[in-house]
Amino acid sequence: MCGIVAYVGEQDALPIIIKGLKRLEYRGYDSAGVALLNDNGLSVYKKKGKVSELENSLLDNPHLNSKIGIGHTRWATHGEPNDANAHPHYSSTENFAMIHNGIIENYEVLKTDLLNKGYVFHSETDSEVFINFIEDIHKNNDCTLEEAVRLALHKVVGAYAIVIMSKEEPDTLIAARKGSPLVIGVGENEYFLASDATPIIEYTNQVVYLDDYEIAVIRNNKLQIKTIENVETNPYINQLEMELEAIEKGGYEHFMLKEINEQPRSIADCMRGRLDAQNGRLIVGGLRDYINKFQNADRIIITACGTSWHAGLVAEYLFEEFARIPVEVEYASEFRYRNPVINEGDFVIAISQSGETADTLAAIELAKSKGATIFGVCNVVGSSIARATHAGSYTHAGPEIGVASTKAFTAQISVLTMMALMLGYQRGTLSETKYIQLLSELEAIPSKVEKALLLNEQIEKISEQYKDARNFLYLGRGYNFPVALEGALKLKEISYIHAEGYPAAEMKHGPIALIDEEMPVVFIATKDSSYEKVVSNIQEVKARKGKIIAVVTEGDTSVKAMADHVIEIPHAHEALVPLISVVPLQLLSYHIAVMRGCNVDQPRNLAKSVTVE
Ligand code: F6R
Repeated sequence: MCGIVAYVGEQDALPIIIKGLKRLEYRGYDSAGVALLNDNGLSVYKKKGKVSELENSLLDNPHLNSKIGIGHTRWATHGEPNDANAHPHYSSTENFAMIHNGIIENYEVLKTDLLNKGYVFHSETDSEVFINFIEDIHKNNDCTLEEAVRLALHKVVGAYAIVIMSKEEPDTLIAARKGSPLVIGVGENEYFLASDATPIIEYTNQVVYLDDYEIAVIRNNKLQIKTIENVETNPYINQLEMELEAIEKGGYEHFMLKEINEQPRSIADCMRGRLDAQNGRLIVGGLRDYINKFQNADRIIITACGTSWHAGLVAEYLFEEFARIPVEVEYASEFRYRNPVINEGDFVIAISQSGETADTLAAIELAKSKGATIFGVCNVVGSSIARATHAGSYTHAGPEIGVASTKAFTAQISVLTMMALMLGYQRGTLSETKYIQLLSELEAIPSKVEKALLLNEQIEKISEQYKDARNFLYLGRGYNFPVALEGALKLKEISYIHAEGYPAAEMKHGPIALIDEEMPVVFIATKDSSYEKVVSNIQEVKARKGKIIAVVTEGDTSVKAMADHVIEIPHAHEALVPLISVVPLQLLSYHIAVMRGCNVDQPRNLAKSVTVE
């Protein structure tokens, strides 16, 4: 949440920062700002609204040339979205300006102290307190800004990625992180800092991921990294493998649509080098060093949030069916606060697209402290979760920019399916014949997803009929129950229509009371072991005049006779069906949201990377 960008070098800083902020807008988009330094001094410009509004407000300003600058796009935590609460924040002398992503938990104590000393605040933010706290230390200890930052970081409690610029040191940027991400791009005589690599990729592919409790000082075109104990460390330069085109819309109207359509490729990328069905080989490399622990685990605990939690629910079915190991799927936010029983024999899988979700990170730390082995399934390379876990596998879905998660979900399920099959085979709970059959079925999934995408036009027409509905129910059983939850989440988050997902059989324990001719009910009724039961549930809805939209297996006739609309998807083994059945639901929510005039890629109140608890 919140995106930060900074630049120092020989180019004009403002266009680089504005472009970078637009790339990071998925992290927050309620206000934006920049600070620049030139002969006119250190100036801050900020505005409520999107980065483009900030950009427009600067169009006629002749004083913006600067070789150094910082910028921020905000997702409000302390204080409503307005110009004053937007970042950067000046210190009270206006000698320093700071951008901050994170939350300072002890800001009230610090603020009271500063108020008693006569400091005046212009915003309601914790971040303004933070920069004034640094200034206060700088003043009272007669020390350098770098030293003041170091001392302040020992006192603040919470999460931060910060970048500070100073009138006193016009060629210097000071950055630090704890809990919020910060990447430093190293170019020719220039440096780029950002919350992720997307603002950096078009300038350099050499990056340094700052670690927690590290301070980066870029001064006189030289990067120095020190711990907050003032011990210098050697920056490790990583090569970015991301392509620029992966973070652009590529002719699609929205990132979400592009990402839905990318799924045949992203699922194939996820399996590439891991699955070789022809030769009966499946290797999830990340498991190599922990395979014994995995095979002999007493229990698998899966922890995640949102869509990633839904992928975890699918994995529960997979691991229990194929590997016969008990699985618990935990909301990371609940798990960490309820003193859970975790033992050394537990194998914890943390799933996260961004790799930055604060609750998931905290759940990992808790499980680690109890001696469990932690395995990450992340999309963003080099992210905090990827680095906090003992081992892991990347999903290789490529950058996901639309706030609603789509291709990350199917890539997560692909990795988890491969893990479950590998585990089941090695434990002897999955026969060789079935294993081989499932490997080739898995390999065929990308082409089946491709086929499901051809349903787009049909789904657009159905969307037209239901775009004004006020409520939706999504029902499925077995492997399709998490898909029902995911379909409902997609619809509510981008179209703001109230939607509920339920296991189909649970409907008669309450939600059936909601059914009338106004209620669209989406059934995922593919041919699987619970098909007959779902058909009965469809009849129950039909008898109460609910409108039925059913996702069925190609060639189905029974449901066709009852449903108002059937969406036919290719047949697959029931354990693999979620990879296909979710696609029409993603398209349905997409089209409904577009028809309702919603901002599909940046839905209200949301941000993609939830770095606050
Ligand atoms: C829904 C969505 C969120 C995320 C959740 C976890 O479309 O995107 O529910 O799934 O915030 O995020 P990650 O996977 O980054 O940990």
